[in-house]
Amino acid sequence: MEKSWFRKLRCGAFIHWGLYAIPGGIWKGEHTQYLGEWLQAVKRIPNAEYSPLAAQFNPVEFDADKIIADFAKAGLKYIVFTAKHHDGFCLYDTKYSDYNSVKASPCHRDFMREFADACQRHGVKMGVYYSHCLDWHEKDGGDPRPCALNFGTTSWGNDWDFPEQSEKDFEAYFQGKVLPQIEELMTNYGPISVLWNDCPFPQITAERAQAILDLVHRLQPNCLVNGRVCGVKSMGDYGTLGDNELPAGVSAEDFPAEAIVTLNDTWGFKFDDQHWKTPRRIQEITLDVAQRGANLLINFGPDARGRIPRGSQVVLDSLAEWRPYVDEALQCDGRNPFPQELSWCRCIAKGTRLWLFPMSDAGDSAVLSGIEGDIDTCSVPYERLASGSLRLQGLAELATENRPVQITFKATPVYDQRLRLQNGFLVLAPRHAALFHGERQVSPGSEFIGPAGERLADTGHCFVTPAGGLRNWKNPTDVIQWECYLPAGTYQLRILTRQLYHNRPWNSQRIVRVVFNGSPRELTLRADELDEGNAYYRGAYTSFGEYRHPQDGTLTLQLSPVSDPDDQAELQLDTLEIREIEPRMNTNPHE
Ligand code: GLC
Repeated sequence: MEKSWFRKLRCGAFIHWGLYAIPGGIWKGEHTQYLGEWLQAVKRIPNAEYSPLAAQFNPVEFDADKIIADFAKAGLKYIVFTAKHHDGFCLYDTKYSDYNSVKASPCHRDFMREFADACQRHGVKMGVYYSHCLDWHEKDGGDPRPCALNFGTTSWGNDWDFPEQSEKDFEAYFQGKVLPQIEELMTNYGPISVLWNDCPFPQITAERAQAILDLVHRLQPNCLVNGRVCGVKSMGDYGTLGDNELPAGVSAEDFPAEAIVTLNDTWGFKFDDQHWKTPRRIQEITLDVAQRGANLLINFGPDARGRIPRGSQVVLDSLAEWRPYVDEALQCDGRNPFPQELSWCRCIAKGTRLWLFPMSDAGDSAVLSGIEGDIDTCSVPYERLASGSLRLQGLAELATENRPVQITFKATPVYDQRLRLQNGFLVLAPRHAALFHGERQVSPGSEFIGPAGERLADTGHCFVTPAGGLRNWKNPTDVIQWECYLPAGTYQLRILTRQLYHNRPWNSQRIVRVVFNGSPRELTLRADELDEGNAYYRGAYTSFGEYRHPQDGTLTLQLSPVSDPDDQAELQLDTLEIREIEPRMNTNPHE
C-alpha cells in the first residue's frame, strides 16, 4: 500500500470534541484530575444524567471554515476528528443511533459534513476518530473487565449503568453499530485519509480488526487505519505512539509512526487546564518527529461554544508564522540521513537538499562530518576542513528563530553510515544495535514475531518498538551491542532511559553491565539529570563516568541488564550518548 502521501503530510490536527466540552472537566462542582473526555467514566455518570447534555449542545461559535483555514496556514495538512468518542455521542448524522448532534441537539448540525467541506476548500485531508470498542452509551459496548481499570479506579467500560457482564453482547454492538457506522463515515463524506481507532482491548480480535480494515480499504482504498485498531496483535497501516510519546528513533517507511501530542494536559476541553506548551516547544517537537520520519498530530479541544482555546490559538498563530521557513523541509518526506542523531541540530535530508535546524544552545559554529558531495549552495558561511567535514558558521541567529541552514548539493550526497562522532558527540539508538537473546541474534525493529504475531515481550526478552525505543530489557542474557568508530581520546558516556507510563516519576535503580571492547563495568541507573523534554514519559540521564579509547578505531559497546528479581520498572532505553571530553575538531584528521 502506498504510504508516501501520508508521510509527506507530516503534521496534522487531532480534534477532540463532544458533549464533554460542556462540563469541561467539572461535574456537580467537582473537578476531574483526568482527561476531559473521560469525565463520564471517572465520575461514573449514569447515561440518564449524561445524555441530556445532548440537548444543551449548541456550539454557536463553531466555524469549521475558520478552524481549517487556520490549520492550513499552520501547516497542519490533515485532521482526525472525533466522530464518536467513548461516550458514544456522534457528531454526525447516523442511522444507527439517535444520540447524535443532528437528531438530539438543538443545533441539528452534522460536524463531519462541516469539517469535510471545509477540508475540501482548504486542501486539508479529512480523517476520522471512531471509538470502535468502548461506547458507554450502549449496554453492549466494549467492557474489558476484569483486565483493566484506568487511572487507578476508573472503569474502561460502562459498568455503572450496565454492571452485568454476562448480559453484554459485544458482537451485537460490533456488527450492529461499529461496522455500519464506519461504513457511513467512509461513504458519506468524500475522501477520508485516516480512520483512527482507539483503546481496542482484547475484544477487538484480529478477525474484528480485519473486518474493519477490509471495510475501510474496500470503500476508501487510500484510507489508512491506525495501529490501535486491534487489541491482540500488531495490525493497521501505520503505528500510533502512546499519548504524548515521542519516537525514540527513525520510523519504518512501510509502517510509519504517528506521534500525538496535547497542547495542555487533556485531549477534550477542560476549563481549568491552562498548562500550555509553548509555541517553541511545539516547533521543536515537530522537528524531532519529522527528522525521525514520523508524523505529528497536534491536539485541539474546542469548548462547548465551538471556540479553539486561547492557549491553542497562540500555538497555531506561531506555527503559521514559522511555517514558510520550514515548509519544504517538512513536506518532502525527508528524514535524518545519518545513522545517529546530531546533538547540535535537527536534521532533514531529501535528495540533493539538506536542512539543519541548530538547537538553541548550539553556539555560532558547528562541524558536520560524514558527508561526501559537492555543495552547490549553502545559506550560511562554511569551510571544508582537511578531514572533509564542514564547519558551518552563523548559526546563533537561526537557532533563535528556529530556522534551518539550507544546503543544496550538486548531486545527492553520500552520508557515512558508520556510527561516528558528530561535532564531538555520538548518539547511539537501539535501532542501530545488534540484539542478542542469549545466543540468538534478533533483528531490531520488530515488536512481534511468528505467524500469530506473538509479542517478543512475552518471550521475556527485549525488543525495539516501531518508534525505536528498547523495551522489556530485564533479561540478563539479552545483549544490546553497538559498533562505532572513535578517534583515540577520552569520552563521557550517559544513557537516557524513560518511564513508560505517563505522568509518573522516573523511578528505576536498574543495574546494567557495560562492556567496552571486552572490559566490563557495572552501573546503576540513577536520575543524574532529568530530561524535561517530555513530561508524560519522563526520562532521566545516568552518567557512566569517563572512558578512555586507546587508539583510533572501533569501539564495541555491549549493554545488558543485571538480574534483579525486585526490578519491576517498565523502562525504555532511548539512547546512549558518547561525548568527546576535549573536542579537537580543528586538528583531528578523523574529525
Ligand atoms: C487516550 C485516551 C483517549 C484519547 C486518546 C488519544 O487513549 O483514553 O480519551 O482520545 O488517548 O490518543
